Amino acid sequence: MKTLLVLLFVLCFQREALCDCQFPAELNGEWFSVENSIPLRLGISGSFWNEISGPKDSQASYMTCKDIFIHPPRPGQDGTQGNNMTVLMEYHNMKHMNEIDGTVNVCVDILWRSINVVQYRKEYIVTFEGQYVSMFNICPSVTNAYKGEFNLPTTLETTTMYRWMSFPMKCSEIFQPGVYQIDYEKHWMKEVCRNSPCLLTACPTRREDKLVLSYAASDDNTKVLTFDCLGSWNATVNGREYTYAALRSLDINGIEESYKCMMTNRNAKFPDGKERWVMSTDCNKLYNTVFASEKLTISKASPGMKCEK
Ligand SMILES: *[C@@H]1O[C@H](CO)[C@@H](O)[C@H](O)[C@H]1NC(C)=O
Ligand SMILES: *[C@@H]1O[C@H](CO)[C@@H](O)[C@H](O)[C@H]1NC(C)=O
Repeated sequence: MKTLLVLLFVLCFQREALCDCQFPAELNGEWFSVENSIPLRLGISGSFWNEISGPKDSQASYMTCKDIFIHPPRPGQDGTQGNNMTVLMEYHNMKHMNEIDGTVNVCVDILWRSINVVQYRKEYIVTFEGQYVSMFNICPSVTNAYKGEFNLPTTLETTTMYRWMSFPMKCSEIFQPGVYQIDYEKHWMKEVCRNSPCLLTACPTRREDKLVLSYAASDDNTKVLTFDCLGSWNATVNGREYTYAALRSLDINGIEESYKCMMTNRNAKFPDGKERWVMSTDCNKLYNTVFASEKLTISKASPGMKCEK
């Protein structure tokens, strides 16, 4: 391990030929995130990471890849799906280009969650001419890489980025296939599912899983929201293991509102047999399964209601 890292280090030092920095193909495409409360559309391709915060935004900025480090896969992960990485980039801003006489470097740690979901942490570091710049001396997550130590961010330190046009996914591990009764609470008020039960249908198809939420709206009509599953994964928050899932519904107005990160604690069994999930646009707003502005409580499958074979 150590030798490999040293070797990589030496090879990349004579970078041009061997370490031409390109994002791995699985990151290419358009993405959406909310960074410091600012909704961003992002485009990643080749060595570019473009940020577009609005269609006509003159402050659009972009970053170019200078070096990339693929983290070794964790036990139990073969790395064929996708990898965590740390990327050293140079920051460019069309508007403020000449305001700093140094180089604005950005260390970006990327946690791979699924083909449709990644989480990143950015750190800006200004360096000046003549200074030796390598990710192994400026990026906090890899400065001890030569000792085999990596310091990747936790979920709460990251921004979640969702693919704009998601790939169909199977997320059967989120819910066992079936039809469930649910309670849905938003902003501390039961907006929907108040007068009559809501149903959540989790019936897999061959290629992808969709979740369908149906409820009686205030006008007595049945409303239906269909959610695409963007991925699911496990992660630790404050020492506890949680299961996460990311969903998107094109039936919800507002891009920000249409993306949902959900979290539950599978190990905390409730005596009523219900499963409690909390939801938010970004996973970094979910600290536990009690306090959240959006909550979903799932009861056992309704008797007599099953997925069609
Ligand atoms: C990426 O890092 C996170 C946090 O350290 C870890 O839980 C996860 O297993 C890693 N994923 C891969 C694909 O190595
Ligand atoms: C998450 O952990 C559970 C066990 O608690 C396991 O059954 C499931 O497969 C894990 N999911 C992922 C995506 O690793």
